Amino acid sequence: MFHLFTYANELEGFVLDKQKDLCQFFSNESLACFLSDFINLPNISKDEEIKLLDAGAGDGILSFAAVLKLIKLGYKNIDIKLYEIDSSLHKIIKSNLNILKIQNPELNLNYTVIKKDFLKVNIKLIKNHFDLAVINPPYKKNKHSFRYDANKVPLNISNDYASFMALAFMALKTEGQLISISPRSFCSGTYFKDFRDYLIQESYIENIHIFKSRINVFKKDSILQENIVCSLRKSHKCSKSIEISHSKDLDFNIDYSKNIYRYQNIIKSQNDNHFIFLPESKSQQKSIEIVENLCSNMEKNEYMVKTGPIVPFRMKKLISNKASEHNIPILRLKNIEAFKINWTSDKNNTYLKKKETKDERLVQKDICILLRRFAPKENQYRIIATVFNPDQSNFKEIAVENHLNIIYKENFTHEEALGLTCILNSYLYDDYFRSLCGSTQINKSELMKLNIPSTNSIKKLGRLISEYQEINRVVVNKQISNILG
Ligand SMILES: C[S@@+](CC[C@H](N)C(=O)[O-])C[C@H]1O[C@@H](n2cnc3c(N)ncnc32)[C@H](O)[C@@H]1O
Repeated sequence: MFHLFTYANELEGFVLDKQKDLCQFFSNESLACFLSDFINLPNISKDEEIKLLDAGAGDGILSFAAVLKLIKLGYKNIDIKLYEIDSSLHKIIKSNLNILKIQNPELNLNYTVIKKDFLKVNIKLIKNHFDLAVINPPYKKNKHSFRYDANKVPLNISNDYASFMALAFMALKTEGQLISISPRSFCSGTYFKDFRDYLIQESYIENIHIFKSRINVFKKDSILQENIVCSLRKSHKCSKSIEISHSKDLDFNIDYSKNIYRYQNIIKSQNDNHFIFLPESKSQQKSIEIVENLCSNMEKNEYMVKTGPIVPFRMKKLISNKASEHNIPILRLKNIEAFKINWTSDKNNTYLKKKETKDERLVQKDICILLRRFAPKENQYRIIATVFNPDQSNFKEIAVENHLNIIYKENFTHEEALGLTCILNSYLYDDYFRSLCGSTQINKSELMKLNIPSTNSIKKLGRLISEYQEINRVVVNKQISNILG
C-alpha cells in the first residue's frame, strides 16, 4: 500500500461544498491499487513510453497508483494527461505526482494537468493517442446530451460516466486498455443501449469486478450505486473467456470470489441488442443459459405489458379513501405478493370513484398478471407477481397504480396467467434478472425482451400448479424443472 501524504490534509476542507455538483467521490488507496492491478500491456515493450489518461483526476490518486504498478511491471517512461475541471485540485495533483518523481529518480515521468471539461475536449486531438486510461468518472445525468459520431456510430449517452468512458475509450490506441469504476447500469437497459453496443463492438472485456455492497466502496461518501470495475481492451480480436470477480466491498480477504466464463455466455447479442450479464456464480450462469435457450418470447406468445394507469397525485378528484359499492380498490405495490393479492382493511387504502370517470382504461376487469415494478431492497426476489382473476377474487374490478406493471393478453385464461406467473416468480428468472440488472426495478422493455417457454408449456405448468392447495415458490420450481427438463 502507498501513502499520499497530501491526500488526507488537503482534500477534507473543500470536498463537501462541491461534492454533488462535480461528483467528487474520491477513490481511496485500496480502490486505486485494486484498479491498477488490472493493468496489463502485453504489446508494449518495457523501454517504450506509456501514455496514460486520467479523466476526472481528482487528486490524481488513480494516476499515482497506476504509475506505481507500471514501475513494478518494469516501465520507466510514462507520460500522463490528467483532466480535472476543478482547478483547486491541481496543486494537490502536482504535489502527489512530484512525490513519485522524488521517490523514483530512475523514472522518466512527465505529466500535464488540464483544466478542461473533459466532455468538451476535441476528440480529434486525443483520438488513438493513449495506451492506457484509468478512470473513476463523475456520475450524473448528462446535461450536454452528449452525442458523438464515432465510426459512424451515433452515441446518445445519458449519463456523464458513460460519456467519460466512451471518450476515454476513443482516446485509446488499438490494443489500448481502459480500466474504469462505474455504476453497472450500462450493462442493460435501453438508456445505455448505444453506448453498450458501441463498446461491445469495438472492444472485448477482459475482467469485471462487482462490488456487492452499494455503500462501502466510497467509504466516506454514501454513494448508493452498485459499482463495477471493468477492464476493456480496444481490439477487434475475439476473446474466448472473461473473468468475473465479486467482493462485498474493498475488504478482499472476506468474501472475494472469481470465475472464468465463456465470453459468449456473458456478452450476449440478440438481433441488434447487446447485454452484459453479470452472474454471481456458475449456477446463475446456468440459469442464464436455460432462459436464453428458450424458444419463445413475450411477443411471440402475444403477451402485452403496460404500466398501471393510476397516478394518484395527478387524479386527486377521482380518488377516495372510502370503500363503497361505486368505488373500486386501487392496488399498489404493497398489495402484491408472490401468488397473492394482499388487501386488508387499512385507512390508507384508496379507491377509484368509478361514477366520476368514463375512462374504461382505468379499470381492470379481465384476467391479468400484476407485477411489482420495484422490488423492496430487503426482498429476496426481484420479481413479485400474482394473477388477478375477477372470478376468483374478492373484487370484480380493480384499478392499478403506476408502480405496478400489468401483463395481459386477449382471451387470457387463468391457467395460462398462472403458468406465466410461476415462470416469473421462479428461482430461474430471479437468477436471470439478478445477472442482467443490478437495480431492483423491472422495466417494461426488459420484460418484453424476455425469453420464455411456449404457450403450451406455460398452460401445462398453470394446469399442474392449479392442482396444489397452496402455491409457493418451492412447488413452482419443482414443476418448472419438470417442464423445462
Ligand atoms: C468521481 S471523482 C474521481 C476523482 C479521482 N479520479 C478518484 O478516483 O478519486 C470525479 C472527478 O471528476 C471531476 N470532474 C467532474 N466533471 C468533470 C468534467 N466535466 N471534466 C473534467 N473533470 C470533471 C471532479 O471534479 C472530480 O474530481
